[in-house]
Amino acid sequence: EESTPHVFIVLGASGDLAKKKIYPTLWWLFRDNLLPSNTRFVGYARSSLSVAEVRDKCQKYMKVKPEEEQRYDEFWTRNSYFHGNYDSRHDFEILDQEIRRLAACREANRIFYLALPPSVFEVVTSSIQTACMADRGWTRIIIEKPFGRDLESSAKLSNHLGSLFKEEQIYRIDHYLGKEMVQNLMILRFANRIFGPTWNRESISSVIISFKEPFGTQGRGGYFDEFGIIRDVMQNHLLQILCLTAMEKPASTSPNDIRDEKVKVLKSMPELKIEDVVLGQYVGDPKGEGEAKEGYLDDRTVPKGSVTPTYAEAVCWIDNERWDGVPFVLRCGKALNERKAEIRIQYRDVPGDIFGRQAKRNELVIRVQPGEAVYIKMMTKSPGMSFDIEETELDLTYGTRYKDVKMPDAYERLILDVFCGSQMHFVRTDELAEAWRIFTPLLHKIEKEKIKPIPYVFGSRGPKEADELLAKVDFKYYGSYKWKQPNQA
Ligand code: BG6
Repeated sequence: EESTPHVFIVLGASGDLAKKKIYPTLWWLFRDNLLPSNTRFVGYARSSLSVAEVRDKCQKYMKVKPEEEQRYDEFWTRNSYFHGNYDSRHDFEILDQEIRRLAACREANRIFYLALPPSVFEVVTSSIQTACMADRGWTRIIIEKPFGRDLESSAKLSNHLGSLFKEEQIYRIDHYLGKEMVQNLMILRFANRIFGPTWNRESISSVIISFKEPFGTQGRGGYFDEFGIIRDVMQNHLLQILCLTAMEKPASTSPNDIRDEKVKVLKSMPELKIEDVVLGQYVGDPKGEGEAKEGYLDDRTVPKGSVTPTYAEAVCWIDNERWDGVPFVLRCGKALNERKAEIRIQYRDVPGDIFGRQAKRNELVIRVQPGEAVYIKMMTKSPGMSFDIEETELDLTYGTRYKDVKMPDAYERLILDVFCGSQMHFVRTDELAEAWRIFTPLLHKIEKEKIKPIPYVFGSRGPKEADELLAKVDFKYYGSYKWKQPNQA
């Protein structure tokens, strides 16, 4: 049966994001037969390229297996490419005609992906609205951060988008919302009886949401320097995770019920204060290898003397009935000792410990990556003759438990969601505005006063001041036990 034609337009098709992420994602979705059967792909950018040239640029990132060659050729036969300007009504009219020609049918749905620098977001979306809307069928717009750089610039962009499209047409990507364990948060919390009753200030001492990367700017310093780690990771990815961890149970799983609850969490959060924040910037490790020898300031694309943080830890508070007084610590950094993203919920001490105060706090850890896992650190009797107690864990490691399940990449899920019209895992306008409200005064203060970040060595755990701040909010680090990924030495 012939389904409604869909046309997916990649704006900025000659750029980095397109070749590294968007085309590969489209190919994998196509390969796995997940897209509507009648889907066409159109690349658009300023440079004059052929489809073959676009294909060449993407080649390295597509991961084509030998047995997929035929399907891969088929994918490219579904592709076209046009060049034109971003602000030319005429060029977008030509693009519109091409889309019509490809769909060969009056009714066709259109998805525009803006893989573009933010400087052209406004003009491109205006061009789409004037010349490229589907007249029968729907039109949806996907955009990626940066969504402005503070409350004001973000509101300006949101108002602009709001004047052109309805909220249901705007898909703001935060790719962490496409990750397996981030999506699992809702199920763990609301489809189990065991966690709910203790999910509050009565039982939980602190929540730490971390993001660590073992590499530096990798030559992307010029881009990074304009934003810094707070805008790059904390204000979006980590804050989204915070919302899903802290929110009340939504009335249903419908996207707006969920996003209503996330907005409520944000509204209960006061603006961040500099006293609750530790900032760091990495310096080279003379004993390190390759990139590790270079500090952030040694990256030639980074302006001299930049004080942009590459590490940040912030203690956030949620002043509502459930969480009053419970610190939610967000921490993220580049050039650290490992790659890891996790949510760590530390419970309070056992009241009236009859084991000579040896009971250590429980922790529930949701490991986002690498190696998805959920584990609970808990105390048990030392197995055998003794009646001592010791730490152990209940462990659900996906690699062992779900051996044959293939985990899709975050972008695959999210782009498929756009085809399906599900906004559950996308950021709504009011959510974004609240997020900026919390961070903007802090960001402005850091920039105005040029607050110096604390240096930390490439490959280290980050500034020790970050651990001190954790201790101050009563996070207990015992250092006596480390979770090991099963089946690994
Ligand atoms: C991006 C940031 O949003 O997320 C990058 O801009 C960061 O700086 C990346 O490296 C991390 O994503 P992932 O999926 O590799 O954890």
